[in-house]
Amino acid sequence: MAAYLGLDFGTSSVKGVLIDEKQKIVATASSPLKVSRPQSGWSEQNPEDWWKAAGKVVAALRKMKPKMVAAVEGIGLSGQQHGATLLGKDGKVLRPCILWNDARSFRECEEIMAREPKAVPLTGNIPLAGYTAPKLVWVKKHEPHVFEKVAKVLLPKDYIRYRMTGTFGSDMSDSAGTYWLDIAKRQWSDMLLAATDMRRDQMPELFEGTDATGQLTPAVAKAWGMPKRPVVAGGGGDNAASACGIGAVTDGAGFISIGTSGVMFVSNDRFSPNASKMVHAFCHATPNTWHQMGVILSATASLEWLAGVLKEPAPQLTKALGPQLKGPSPALFLPYLSGERTPVGDAQIRGAVLGLGHETDRKALTHAVLDSIAFAFRDSLEALEAGGAKINRLMAVGGGTKSELWLKIMATVLGVPIDLPVAGDVGGAFGAARMGRVAATGTDWRKAFSKPKIARTIAPEKSAANAYLDQYKRYTKIYPAIKGI
Ligand code: XUL
Repeated sequence: MAAYLGLDFGTSSVKGVLIDEKQKIVATASSPLKVSRPQSGWSEQNPEDWWKAAGKVVAALRKMKPKMVAAVEGIGLSGQQHGATLLGKDGKVLRPCILWNDARSFRECEEIMAREPKAVPLTGNIPLAGYTAPKLVWVKKHEPHVFEKVAKVLLPKDYIRYRMTGTFGSDMSDSAGTYWLDIAKRQWSDMLLAATDMRRDQMPELFEGTDATGQLTPAVAKAWGMPKRPVVAGGGGDNAASACGIGAVTDGAGFISIGTSGVMFVSNDRFSPNASKMVHAFCHATPNTWHQMGVILSATASLEWLAGVLKEPAPQLTKALGPQLKGPSPALFLPYLSGERTPVGDAQIRGAVLGLGHETDRKALTHAVLDSIAFAFRDSLEALEAGGAKINRLMAVGGGTKSELWLKIMATVLGVPIDLPVAGDVGGAFGAARMGRVAATGTDWRKAFSKPKIARTIAPEKSAANAYLDQYKRYTKIYPAIKGI
């Protein structure tokens, strides 16, 4: 008997998924994480919290399935992308990790472009504040005492790999989001490193997501109850890992993820950039494949924000609206709570609520937030299609898929049917477990990363389509109108 484990280091929790030899899920567990926001637009986490949460997840799985955990032969890692985890010579963390949704380094993006005018044409991507490289330019400027000590920069899941195996390694999909990778060539770019005063020796070694990068150290293997000392696969950024989990690895296959951030993802068999619309054109976690992605920074994070203001849990807020979709909320919301990536690439803009009346209540506000995330997804759909993608239907994953109404709004606004996979809420962790299995067994990834069974399909609500189209048109006018304020 052999088993495989996937660990996904999300922003709000660490998730673990244990699968058997046939890729059937035998147990899942998760442990929550907190984000600290010391200033507006800042977003940080303590890497030690990820490590502790990983230990808790493994312990929970072990309690449920001790024999399966002892049979683990391969582990895959998935994680929130772009975070800058800075390590000194002694391998100790130098400061809290600056996360993907931290907007502080917007000026530094302009500086990189000015310093290296070839950066955008040659990389096919515009540097965004969320990416790792501008964060290091910020650290150099504002915390020079930290910058001079940086011996390695690791992405969140790669820090955990280091704690698990002692290896400094990363995979192509996650490394593509640093802005230090030559994405077409799948190697570190000396040009981009030089443009940010960084060096190759500060980067981890590069692997494909399905490669073995190392083995669990004897100490961790003992603590986690895994005597076989499993190999650890390269894994992937959470979106690429989710794609491996739902079989979106062939040209044109795609999905939307409605999580803390919102992502529209399409797999490509060649590097397909469209920088002007802030489409992320990255490497996929599978060899010799790439992907395009539109990113909405605050998806369920917008709903969580409203839940915090109204002091009522998000699931309760959405439940109060009922499952029927009649039309859009009379109020409009712009979900740019920490700036936005696709399609505007603006780290300084902040959100807005429009169309308030005396009658606007918590239901109308909740409804407006749900509508706005669907509109933001529509912006991504249009940007990906302008880059050549053909999208006829989409699979949906992530916490947001729990709301029936939200799914109906999404299908109606996007104008395509939305498929829900059977195991819809495990995303990156399941894909990571699959990568752990491929790394341990050498199975062909094309066969291993099959598509899941579809539990059900949500069709666009025809009777509400025109009203939503009108409201979307109004939505697209908000950003240009408030940009200068
Ligand atoms: C992708 C991105 C987010 C994080 C969220 O570019 O920043 O999707 O990976 O976990």
